[in-house]
Amino acid sequence: MPTKIEKDRLTGKETTGHEWDGIKELNTPLPKWWLYVFYACIIWSIGYMVLYPAIPLGTTYTKGLLGWSSREQVRDQIADARERQGEFLIGIQESSLEEIRADSTLFTFAQRGGAVAFADNCAACHGAAGQGNVGGFPVLADDDWIWGGSLDSIHHTIVHGVRWEDDPDTRFNMMPAYGDGLLSEEEIAQVTDYVLSLSGRAPEGADLAPGEEIFAIQCAACHGEMGEGVTDLGGPNLSDAIWLYGSERNEIMAQIVNPQHGVMPAFQARLEGETLKMLSIYVHALGGGQ
Ligand code: HEC
Ligand code: HEC
Repeated sequence: MPTKIEKDRLTGKETTGHEWDGIKELNTPLPKWWLYVFYACIIWSIGYMVLYPAIPLGTTYTKGLLGWSSREQVRDQIADARERQGEFLIGIQESSLEEIRADSTLFTFAQRGGAVAFADNCAACHGAAGQGNVGGFPVLADDDWIWGGSLDSIHHTIVHGVRWEDDPDTRFNMMPAYGDGLLSEEEIAQVTDYVLSLSGRAPEGADLAPGEEIFAIQCAACHGEMGEGVTDLGGPNLSDAIWLYGSERNEIMAQIVNPQHGVMPAFQARLEGETLKMLSIYVHALGGGQ
């Protein structure tokens, strides 16, 4: 508290009455321009609080007279982006898969759209880059196809899924459980050795003839004469190094005794036609489309 008003001798200004070791504090008013800007800010902020969302009230907030919300803004931006994509999306809708692949603009657009849709819908099972996952989730970035690698085959698989009950056109085939008395334990061991021999891994000294005969009778219909696979039936190639359920002897034998079967959802109920086409183009171009 200033005790009495005192003027500084040098500047002629009033002091605040504060003094430290003989140094006195001058009472200099705030510059006018600063003060006006300060008042303007207060007025502006009141206007802002009236027009825009401002004060939190428990779980809600004052909405403001303009009704602006960041959610509305995002919605508008998405609508805008859709509109700009419109001509491409129509192009995708009206073209066959082959036509899209042949048109470099549509192809590029489909690749981008497909990549986004893949990350959202497929990566959890097939890996971010289509590299597959253990336990029967196949690699999509190679040229080994269970159900076929043409654009149309890939499209069919994505649209209708695999062993997906709700879709009458789903890919479907079940391998019999040979351990349920269809083959004896010895026969299962023999055919397992023969399957190993198809990828050049026959156990040393094994007699392959009985297994070969069993294979021709029991397995060739779904897996091909030489185990090369039958894509129409979804019987995987058994003569390469790619395995859904493991390459070890005991893993192959387990599949023959009591087979596992992969299930993939049908995406026609979840995604739009253009997206399904873009995904097919994307997957086909990942690696080994035929
Ligand atoms: C819930 C897991 C799951 C999701 C999600 C999923 N898939 Fe699959 N997908 C599988 C399984 C399992 C198989 C193997 C089916 C079989 O064993 O025949 C498969 C097979 C495929 C095949 C056939 C591969 C071949 O070799 O013939 C394609 C193509 C494919 N998926 C694409 C996609 C695309 C594209 C998406 C996203 C839109 C997707 N998948 C989402 C589980 C999934
Ligand atoms: C009715 C058709 C059918 C018959 C017959 C059949 N399989 Fe299969 N097999 C399949 C299908 C389909 C799969 C793939 C399951 C999946 O995709 O999840 C498969 C998978 C396999 C696998 C696992 C492949 C991998 O990549 O991990 C092995 C091994 C196999 N079969 C061996 C045999 C042998 C040996 C026989 C004969 C004793 C046989 N199969 C008979 C349909 C058949």
